[in-house]
Amino acid sequence: MAGWIHMVTARTPTNIAVIKYWGKRDESLILPVNDSISVTLDPEHLCTTTTVAVSPGFDQDRMWLNGKEISLSGGRYQNCLREIRARAEDFEDNERGIKIAKQDWQKLRVHIASYNNFPTAAGLASSAAGFACLVFALAKLMNAKEDPSQLSAIARQGSGSACRSLYGGFVKWIMGKEENGSDSLAVQLVDENHWDDLVIIIAVVSSRQKETSSTTGMRDTVETSMLLQHRAKVEVVPKRIVKMEEAIQNHDFSSFAQLTCSDSNQFHAVCLDTCPPIFYMNDTSHRIISCIEKWNRSEESPQVAYTFDAGPNAVLIARNRKTAALLLQRMLYFFPPSADTDMSSYVLGDKSILKDAG
Ligand code: DP6
Repeated sequence: MAGWIHMVTARTPTNIAVIKYWGKRDESLILPVNDSISVTLDPEHLCTTTTVAVSPGFDQDRMWLNGKEISLSGGRYQNCLREIRARAEDFEDNERGIKIAKQDWQKLRVHIASYNNFPTAAGLASSAAGFACLVFALAKLMNAKEDPSQLSAIARQGSGSACRSLYGGFVKWIMGKEENGSDSLAVQLVDENHWDDLVIIIAVVSSRQKETSSTTGMRDTVETSMLLQHRAKVEVVPKRIVKMEEAIQNHDFSSFAQLTCSDSNQFHAVCLDTCPPIFYMNDTSHRIISCIEKWNRSEESPQVAYTFDAGPNAVLIARNRKTAALLLQRMLYFFPPSADTDMSSYVLGDKSILKDAG
């Protein structure tokens, strides 16, 4: 049976950190300097779809991203492939007469085709969905029987934030203590139904590729920023992590919004404190912050949380559907998407408010 192909397709959503990961204590194993917490988006709107295939006819590992072949020689892909191959089990498909013994996986080559339904590397955490999806699909293909937390520790070696995309809902990446990274993995705090009032809208300010990748940016930060050391202190991020977990458990939107916005602003302050300084946000990002801050201060309690990753796009989290409808109205008024403005489009990161808003 030389002509067979065995393949698996998986779809994984991206995630947005509300307490950020920025800075590694070990670059090759991708071990962070602090815990982080994220919310996983709805797979319908922002996700990666990956097909992995294996066949005796393939003579080398190959990968295509959005239809273009990319090199797999980088350590990150190699780490993920090696770790899954090491956990591969016997596979049998009697109907098609395919039988792959555990040890055969070391010799068989894989082809990988991956598509993002959102701009790659525009600060929309494409590597998070990408590596999580790759690891999940490879594990299914090779019959590796690992639970999501164990798979998260493998996805982490592809891209740090990827470890949080193995779960839905709110997810915590525990930084871990072990030197070999075995306890640096993701756990689910609550599932996607726990706080389903929240609505996420992403304002795509620019879909251009960012100038400084997260990897390079955080390397420079670790080497030069004093503010990063302040972040790692017990009373800063570790304390925020505890408070954020409480806010999520209790559906406490005021604390949630306050912590999310502060952590995003501190992360960008750390970027400015880096030498040379890193500018991920632009004027439009700053105007969006001012607009949301003004609105929140005019109400009894915050209505919308904002957070920005390594790019100018705003991730806006509204406390409920009614607020989300008002938010979209305001955003479309102040920041209309058009060719002559600095606003490209709006993407729903969550359930469609347009269908359900009252
Ligand atoms: C700002 O996970 O992309 O989105 O581990 O080097 O691949 P590498 O970096 P990456 O960094 C994400 C940084 C962030 C914050 C976050 O997602 O926590």
